[in-house]
Amino acid sequence: MKTNDYGHITVFLQQAVAALEVRPNGIYVDATLGGGGHSDLILKEALQGHLYSFDQDEEAIRFNEKRFAEEIAAGRMTLIHDNFKNLASELAKYGVTQIDGIVFDLGVSSPQFDEQGRGFSYRSDARLDMRMDQEQSLDAYEIVNHWDYKELAQILNRYGEEKFASSIARRILLQREKAPIETTEQLVAVIKEALPDRVLHAKGHPAKKTFQAIRIAVNDELNVLKEALAQSANLLAPHGRIAVITFQSLEDRIVKQFFRDMATKNQLPDKMPVLDKDIKEDFKLVTRHPIVPSEKEISANHRSHSAKLRVLEKN
Ligand SMILES: C[S@@+](CC[C@H](N)C(=O)[O-])C[C@H]1O[C@@H](n2cnc3c(N)ncnc32)[C@H](O)[C@@H]1O
Repeated sequence: MKTNDYGHITVFLQQAVAALEVRPNGIYVDATLGGGGHSDLILKEALQGHLYSFDQDEEAIRFNEKRFAEEIAAGRMTLIHDNFKNLASELAKYGVTQIDGIVFDLGVSSPQFDEQGRGFSYRSDARLDMRMDQEQSLDAYEIVNHWDYKELAQILNRYGEEKFASSIARRILLQREKAPIETTEQLVAVIKEALPDRVLHAKGHPAKKTFQAIRIAVNDELNVLKEALAQSANLLAPHGRIAVITFQSLEDRIVKQFFRDMATKNQLPDKMPVLDKDIKEDFKLVTRHPIVPSEKEISANHRSHSAKLRVLEKN
C-alpha cells in the first residue's frame, strides 16, 4: 500500500473514488485533502473537470500546493484553506452552486497524529493542543484547564463514551487546583489516577476515550460534520454522490442517520396509493450497509481497522 511523501496511507483510496463514479467533465470536492490521496485519483479521472479540495490545516495545503502544482496551474484544481463547514459559501466564491460528487475522509491524518508538537497522541509528550486548524484559538489546554466540571464530564461522556467521565473530570479539577495540566503526558497520568485497576490493565490505552473526546470538542467535529453533510446534499447535481469515510461510531451514526433521512424523507407512507408513478425520493442509499476494510487493507494499514464507507446518491 502506497504512502505519499506526506506520510499518510489513504484509507479506501480506490473504493471511495470508485463510489463517486467520477465523470470526466464533472465538478468534484475533496473535503479532507490531507496528503492528497483521494484528490490525486479524482484528478486522474476528471480530466476535463475541476476539483476543489479543502483542508483547514495549513501544512496540508502547503504540501499539496507543491504536489499538485501542475494541476493547479492548468486550472483543473483549486485548494481551499478552510473548514469544510464553509463548503457552500467557499464554493460560491468560485461561482460553484452545483457539484457532481464529494468525498469526506474524516479525522486527522497520520502526520497530524504523529507530529509531536500537535498534541493529538497520548503516546508521546507534547503541549496540550489538538487543533487541526492552527489559527483557531480554542485548544486542548483551554478545555482541560478552564472548562468547568460539568462541561468536562459531559464531553467525556458524549464524545468519548467514557464510563468513568465523572471520575476523570473530578481528577482533572483536583490536579489543576495544584498546577495547570500542560502536556499530554501529564493528562495521561491524571486519567490513569482516575481509573480502576481493571480498566488500566484492559485492552486499549486508558487515555484513548478521553483524548478522542477532547479532540472532538476542540475541533467541534460532530457539528461541522452535520453542517457539511446538509450543505453537500443541497449542492449535489442529479446523480451526484456523497462518499464519507468515518473512523469512529459517533461520526458513523451521524452519517448513517443523515443518509437514511435523506433517502426516506419523501417516501410515501406504506400502503398509500401511488397517484403519480413518477414520484421518487430525492436521494437513494448506494450502500445499505457500510463498506468495511478487507483483512489485507487492515494488515497493511492499521489506521483503517475502524473505517466505514457510506455513499448517498441524488436521483
Ligand atoms: C484522514 S485525513 C485525509 C487524508 C486524505 N484523504 C489523503 O488521502 O491523504 C483528514 C484531513 O482532513 C482535514 N480535516 C478534518 N476535518 C476538517 C474540517 N472540518 N475542515 C477541513 N479540513 C478538515 C484534516 O486536517 C486532515 O488533513
